[in-house]
Amino acid sequence: MDNRLIVALDTDDDEEIIWLSGTLMDIVGWFKMGFQAFSALGMEAFPWFEQNGHNTFVDLKFHDIPNTVARDVSTMTKHGANMINMHASGGLEMMQAARSRADDAAYKARIPNPILLGVTILTSMDEMGFQSNFGSERQLSEQVVYLAKLTKEAGLDGVVASPLEIEPIRKACGDNFLIVTPGIRPKWADPGDQRRITTPAEAINRGADFIVVGRPIIEAEDPLEAAEKILDEMRGM
Ligand code: C5P
Repeated sequence: MDNRLIVALDTDDDEEIIWLSGTLMDIVGWFKMGFQAFSALGMEAFPWFEQNGHNTFVDLKFHDIPNTVARDVSTMTKHGANMINMHASGGLEMMQAARSRADDAAYKARIPNPILLGVTILTSMDEMGFQSNFGSERQLSEQVVYLAKLTKEAGLDGVVASPLEIEPIRKACGDNFLIVTPGIRPKWADPGDQRRITTPAEAINRGADFIVVGRPIIEAEDPLEAAEKILDEMRGM
């Protein structure tokens, strides 16, 4: 089972989720639930994935006042989420509050602290989109590194970023800081709305700790074969 590939279960059809995760269960170690999967499975998902030996990434990208995000993250931790993310642009205080409440919840539940991640700039955004949407004069990669440093300062474990930004983030935040990269497209897959992309092999070669893949697997005619091809690429085969 591979512990670097996270499959995004982006569907609200519970039967499809059960089928997909069952099909991939022997080769994939992590499943990601966004709002759709979460609305279908709810908190029951955590013990269910765990009993099958899998880890769960809750991708709800929290972004609110510190107290609210701290409570949200604490609830997810208590129920068994292994990885949780929030927008780094929510600020230092928000991320610090989340870290502290998540670790308290884990201590009380006698479970390991969850991996907490800051989302930098979405991988669907390119340089022009970033500057026009944020009214920023900064380069997108500068903003990504700025947010990664803020995330580290807050005590989070790492960031979600494009594989194209791994190198400057590593330089600024060091080897122990986790980098989780969506925006992954094998050469044979459609980019869809993703912009700052690389292949699975390139992301691993650049130093990604985890890669997140959704549509190239879950919309493939044969998801098991697609996942196996991606894993082969990651292993350099
Ligand atoms: O289908 P695709 O491979 O593009 O899916 C990527 C997944 O990663 C989606 O679930 C998307 O919400 C998520 N994601 C992302 N960019 C981020 C954070 C999460 O694409 N910055």
